Order: sequence, then C-alpha cells, then structure tokens
Amino acid sequence: MAELGTVLGQQLAPGDAVCLVGPLGAGKTTFTRGLARGLEIRGEVTSPTFVIARRHRGLRVDLLHCDAYRISSPDEFADLDLDTDEAVTVVEWGQSVMAEISDSWLEVAIDRSSSHDEGTRQVTVCGRGDRWTATQLDLLIAAFRRVIS
Ligand SMILES: Nc1ncnc2c1ncn2[C@@H]1O[C@H](COP(=O)(O)OP(=O)(O)OP(=O)(O)O)[C@@H](O)[C@H]1O
Ligand SMILES: [Mg+2]
Repeated sequence: MAELGTVLGQQLAPGDAVCLVGPLGAGKTTFTRGLARGLEIRGEVTSPTFVIARRHRGLRVDLLHCDAYRISSPDEFADLDLDTDEAVTVVEWGQSVMAEISDSWLEVAIDRSSSHDEGTRQVTVCGRGDRWTATQLDLLIAAFRRVIS
C-alpha cells in the first residue's frame, strides 16, 4: 500500500487533493506514508486522528495530512480553515468533507473485506471533478499494476 502511495505522490502537484476511503486499519495512513515519500517529504508521517490535520514541509510541495474521522459535519471541517492552496491535501475518512477544500479530487478506496489473506487489499480509484482525465487515471492504474505485479 505504501508503494502505491509513492507512485501516486510522484504524480501530484500543489493544489491536488486525495480522499482516502476505507475501514479502520485499511491502510490509509500507510498509503499516505508512501505518498509522502513520492512527494519527497522528509520526516515521519503518523496518523493525524487526534490532531485532525498536520502539515509536513517538503522541498517541492507541502503535504497536508488530515483525518476527518472525528469531524461530525462538513461545516466543522470548513471551520478549520486549512490552507490547501500550495499543498497536496490527503484526507483520511474524507468522503463527506472534500467539497470544502476543492472542486476536484482523486478518491482512493481501500477494501480488505473480501480478502482471504490479512495483507491483501483491493484498491479502487475514482476521479471527482475534472482534475483527473480518463487517460491520467489509466496511466495511474497502469503504474499501480506495475507495483503489484
Ligand atoms: N497491504 C497492506 N497495506 C497496508 N497496511 C497493511 C497491509 N497489510 C497489513 N497491513 C496492516 O494494517 C494496518 C493498517 O494501518 P493504517 O494505520 O495504515 O490504517 P488506516 O486505514 O489509516 O487506519 P485508521 O482508520 O485507524 O486511520 C497496519 O497495521 C499494517 O501493518
Ligand atoms: Mg489512519
């Protein structure tokens, strides 16, 4: 999962947003840790569940890593007034709050319910809005496939 995150991180630019969907322990933070590596962020990425949002400085772009698990409404998330313009924003449990930060984002859904093996995950990507063209999504999926093959 971390390696998939790295592949995605290499393709992201300031202003991009990623919504991570998946049950407790799916691998959202693990994915983000790899994504940070792809963004060339230095330092450790740990779960922001209790601080809600943490900014990691990078040479190329900052990573704004959020966790909306404890956020009860989109308004509450908007009230955080996060500065997302110059950063790549990744939101765990972000499904109901993404529209507060962008009109377009990539959704990465991680599922482990159907797996027989503890370590197996099923990953689905979906572009919301116009940031991700079908061609870009195809290229991303092809890059993911190279990682797992
Ligand atoms: N293929 C895998 N990818 C990611 N994590 C895996 C995988 N297989 C097993 N794991 C384990 O599952 C756990 C995933 O934890 P992680 O904190 O990344 O999940 P999370 O989705 O962020 O959880 P939370 O909902 O609590 O934020 C880790 O303990 C990790 O070692
Ligand atoms: Mg997490």
